Amino acid sequence: MTDTKFDLVVWGASGFVGKLICEYLASSYGGGSLHWAMGGRSQEKLEAVRASLGDGAQNIPIVTGDAMDAAALDGIVMSTKVIISTVGPYALYGSEMLAACARHGVDYVDLTGETQWIAKMVDAHQDAAQASGARIVNCCGYDSIPSDLGVFLVNEYAKANGNAPCTEIIMAVKAAKGGASGGTIWSLLNVIEESQRDKAVAKLLANPFAIAPKGARSGPRQPSTNVLEYNADFGIWLAPFVMAAINTRVVHRSNALMDYPMTREFRYSEAMMTGPGFGGRMGAYGLAGGLGLFAALAAIAPTRSFLKSFVLPKPGEGPSKEARETGFFKHVVLGKTESGAKHVAHVTGDRDPGYGSTAKMISEAALCLLWDVPEEDKGGGLWTPASTMGQKLIDRLEQNAGLTFTIQDAA
Ligand SMILES: NC(=O)c1ccc[n+]([C@@H]2O[C@H](COP(=O)([O-])OP(=O)(O)OC[C@H]3O[C@@H](n4cnc5c(N)ncnc54)[C@H](OP(=O)(O)O)[C@@H]3O)[C@@H](O)[C@H]2O)c1
Repeated sequence: MTDTKFDLVVWGASGFVGKLICEYLASSYGGGSLHWAMGGRSQEKLEAVRASLGDGAQNIPIVTGDAMDAAALDGIVMSTKVIISTVGPYALYGSEMLAACARHGVDYVDLTGETQWIAKMVDAHQDAAQASGARIVNCCGYDSIPSDLGVFLVNEYAKANGNAPCTEIIMAVKAAKGGASGGTIWSLLNVIEESQRDKAVAKLLANPFAIAPKGARSGPRQPSTNVLEYNADFGIWLAPFVMAAINTRVVHRSNALMDYPMTREFRYSEAMMTGPGFGGRMGAYGLAGGLGLFAALAAIAPTRSFLKSFVLPKPGEGPSKEARETGFFKHVVLGKTESGAKHVAHVTGDRDPGYGSTAKMISEAALCLLWDVPEEDKGGGLWTPASTMGQKLIDRLEQNAGLTFTIQDAA
């Protein structure tokens, strides 16, 4: 019997990042054995994206449906082995697709960074996904693959070379160049709006263990994500990193899902490096001040609405091709064991983190589930990148997606 299913469907292929994923798949896997389709709500927009992919891509099938139409989504989900979902804000448009995958045992990856939505999805669909065999992996872009896999790598190294796990890890962004799309900004503003409407959401967002499995949503006191301090290990000033709000939650979820390889006392933090000395200190204050100002303006409804209408990119818009191609990121992950031994990993990526690199990361995550992680090794459920794919995804990202992961002992 021939398998007529697609290997994967890019759901949201007409969006800013969806289109980049299609470009990546067409250029890196076109002409090979990968059988994939483009999905979304507008046939016309999807055809325009397909036309832009070049002659070799004109036979890529298109599937259509609305993100709120459960019956249409059932049809799309049952036609494929894996869904790459980029239809966001996920809290507004993503739930039905994730639910359909959980129901039908179809693997799924997405780019959400919306903590409150992930918590809701874990509670609603963990049992169904476990029963159906669907591997649901959230956060397969810049948030949170480099953080989740960087931590995984440094801890595996510590256990293998120092015979002890890391009980404390800090990830610091050494350098990064990129921008934000309308879809990302809209998703962020939606989190702010939800937390203002519902105090329970605000409380959940403040919990470092918010998306850990049920029964594991508390733990040791964690370092603040609003860091503004000199770090003696790095010899450098640190300022807040905007993605820490989701990445720290994903890393703690991985620790719980993998049965605490970093121990239950594990402390994790993320920050941006701004440099040594007075310049670094001023840079840290400047960065923290800029973030604080944006947060204040986004928190007040009239200024938020002004930002949306006149300042920020709209859904469908994002960094230019040149900005994406000249972008990059460099992360340093410092792990310490209980005895004080230190290990340092470096994680880097070419292209701008949020789009050029993210499009490659999520595509490779989908292919890793499809080709590298057998169902016998990892069953259904809501997972994280590290807890489902770990070293296999590191290898794939290094071979195909312009990421590097290196590790050494620190002085
Ligand atoms: N984790 C990361 O590193 C990372 C990086 C990049 C993006 N993201 C996230 O990824 C998401 C997408 O970002 P983006 O910039 O690509 O956004 P975007 O350009 O606004 O794209 C959104 C996509 O969703 C589709 N859509 C919206 N409502 C729909 C509905 N009712 N039914 C079917 N499709 C619908 C849009 O279709 P139309 O074209 O027909 O409007 C479009 O294809 C956002 O949530 C963003 O935060 C995360």
